[in-house]
Amino acid sequence: MLRISLLSMTLLAVSCTDSGDDGDTDAADGSGTGNTVGGVPVDAGELSMWLEAGSYSSWAAESGNHASTGPHGEVRTFFNDEMVASFDAGNTVHPVGSAAVKELYNGSGAEIGWAVMVKVAEGEGANSWYWYLESSDTVTADGEGIPTCENCHVSGTDRVLTPYPLQ
Ligand code: HEC
Repeated sequence: MLRISLLSMTLLAVSCTDSGDDGDTDAADGSGTGNTVGGVPVDAGELSMWLEAGSYSSWAAESGNHASTGPHGEVRTFFNDEMVASFDAGNTVHPVGSAAVKELYNGSGAEIGWAVMVKVAEGEGANSWYWYLESSDTVTADGEGIPTCENCHVSGTDRVLTPYPLQ
């Protein structure tokens, strides 16, 4: 007969608490869709569309393209409000939701992709950042603690290497 499952509704409500103190996160496990942290999708398929739509274009940004001092070619970096506020506060560890998007350009000044980092767990540590790299429609990084990104970024301010204030 007809049954209304109050129990399952209660369970759904309970699972929506946001205490994130255990240093773990299920926000960026790559499974499913609809995961966002700090307003940024941390799922390759959704993030790609989000980037394509220029969703970060109102963020604080460097004044123009410049040569990367790393392996990123020609670049222009954007920080979201959480990241800006964290740098302004002098934090050495950024809060969950802090994010940077870096536009990547080829030698002719055409935009060819994005590098993205999103803080997904409190505290320091390799798995506290989600990394994403898309260039010429190919995604080569999508997840937390990616060693090739870590290698260089571990030397930054909680892994952020772009000088602040943005130039
Ligand atoms: C060889 C060193 C190196 C490696 C490897 C590297 N980066 Fe970077 N990255 C940099 C440097 C240096 C900057 C500062 C801006 C610039 O000069 O490009 C930077 C900047 C960034 C930024 C802008 C925010 C910030 O930290 O300044 C993002 C996002 C980013 N990198 C993502 C990635 C991702 C994703 C990977 C792995 C796929 C990666 N990077 C691998 C050196 C590196």
